[in-house]
Amino acid sequence: MKIDFTRLGDGTAEEYAYLDKLDHELNKNYATDLIALFRGTERETGYPLTAMRHALQTATRAARDGADDEMVFAALFHDIADRIAPINHSAVGAEILRPFIGTRTHWILAHHAIFQGYYFWHHIGRDRDEREKYRGHPYFKDCAEFCERWDSISFDPNYDTMPLEAFEPIINRMLAREPNALWR
Ligand SMILES: [Fe+2]
Ligand SMILES: [Fe+2]
Repeated sequence: MKIDFTRLGDGTAEEYAYLDKLDHELNKNYATDLIALFRGTERETGYPLTAMRHALQTATRAARDGADDEMVFAALFHDIADRIAPINHSAVGAEILRPFIGTRTHWILAHHAIFQGYYFWHHIGRDRDEREKYRGHPYFKDCAEFCERWDSISFDPNYDTMPLEAFEPIINRMLAREPNALWR
């Protein structure tokens, strides 16, 4: 079918049914697109590990600690917006994953950068306790733990980090979930 309209308001129900089906087809392999974005974070930044290797290690630690699929998936992609949104990567990353994760995981991802700051911001002239403004929030402790147990310690080149392929079953299970209708 060839789409003839040049203004959205002029389209027909038939045309939109066709486009909707096509959209579904195009996004069937979203896992591949998400992984491509993830692979884009493989670049040297001066840290002992690239952002991608750091994320793989974060997810490996989460998996070995017995975290569920959703949290391992979140740990794997928590820095996925590292390049496309260097100034607000945590909020953007959380939004990218939003259709597939719950509110708690979303909050953890959206705020992890401030919680990570606890470990080093005092060295760069920032307030390491900036996270304290969220003290009392129901997910404060979860976000602090995410950083303490997995994110802040995953810069170790000698750690036995699992390869990306090992996470593919989890990625596929997570993306096969019905997108959270509340989040659309
Ligand atoms: Fe981060
Ligand atoms: Fe990180």
